[in-house]
Amino acid sequence: MKFLDIAKQDLELKNKIFKEIDKVIKTNDFILGKKVEEFEKNFSKYCGTKFAIGCANGTDALTLALESLGLPKNSEVILPAMTWCSTAFAVIKANLKPVLVDIETDKSTISIESLEKKINKKTKAIIIVHLYGECCDITNLKKIIKNKNIYLIEDAAQAHGAYDLISNKKVGNLGDLACFSFYPGKNIGAYGDGGMITTNNQKFFNKIKQLRNMGQKLKNDHKVIGVNSRLDTIQATILNEKLKKLNYFNNKRKFIANYYKKNIKNKLIIKLKYSDGCVYHQYVIKVYKLKKFLYYLTKYKIPYGRHYPKPIHKLTALKKYFNKEVYINSESLSSKCVSLPINPLLKIKDLEYICSVINKFR
Ligand SMILES: Cc1ncc(COP(=O)(O)O)c(C=O)c1O
Repeated sequence: MKFLDIAKQDLELKNKIFKEIDKVIKTNDFILGKKVEEFEKNFSKYCGTKFAIGCANGTDALTLALESLGLPKNSEVILPAMTWCSTAFAVIKANLKPVLVDIETDKSTISIESLEKKINKKTKAIIIVHLYGECCDITNLKKIIKNKNIYLIEDAAQAHGAYDLISNKKVGNLGDLACFSFYPGKNIGAYGDGGMITTNNQKFFNKIKQLRNMGQKLKNDHKVIGVNSRLDTIQATILNEKLKKLNYFNNKRKFIANYYKKNIKNKLIIKLKYSDGCVYHQYVIKVYKLKKFLYYLTKYKIPYGRHYPKPIHKLTALKKYFNKEVYINSESLSSKCVSLPINPLLKIKDLEYICSVINKFR
């Protein structure tokens, strides 16, 4: 049993991907070009946004999105205490000040009630993270920031195809800008690194297009100091093919998650609350007696992950920014989280085995 098996998942697409890559090589179209534009168009259509801009990875997507806002140095940017390090690193790299907010109890998304208390005159942007593929509570968030001149950025690195149940809109189309990662293990992943920013705002679109390509709009006309953060053309070619299968594999993930929801019954385990719009980048449970449980899974050959064992304010590189701050729900999740296999190719007999082993844990 594998936690994920990308090679096997992509088996059916392999010949088509190779053919398309061959075309790229034959046309010498290696940087940006037709295939990147095609994928940008297809991905924006998928999310329901006007624009999409490819870039080198999800971390750059966040940094570019923040830079495009043109905020004064040290403006405050709110983000959840429980996320992958990139969300916070991007804020610091963009010369802005990260302000943390706890997540909801036994959920993976930011607490809107706690967030409201952290908003002040210096708050210029909020990054919500659709962690594990679960869409944040966008309706209540929008009520809070209405008429406040605060930009809203989605970190949708783990949530391609997830949606908000109330507006029925997909993530990527819920704020001013949204950032995606195509790291290989994501719901749609490249065979290397890749990232994307989606927006409906023409101004941000123009700015990010320039920033990602050394500050040029036209060749050799460097209007601003930019970076080399282009989505690789061969990766865009691969992603274009894989996008066709994204919904299919997301549905498989949903099936697995629903099986776990229904069949895991153990007093030492808390199941996180997920909504129907979730695409289950991870299926995470909280476990008492964690060390013993991980040993137990290994003994029964069940692969697992930990996303993530430390919240942002406890990361060595970031401790100094959040002097002794406490975020109870984030700390509780990080200290107890275990990600169960979410490989879309898992069979019912695998799921039966996983649940029966877990239910016997004492
Ligand atoms: C929530 C979140 N944000 C940002 C990123 C950064 O993406 P990348 O690894 O493509 O830089 C990731 C990647 O794991 C992520 O999970």
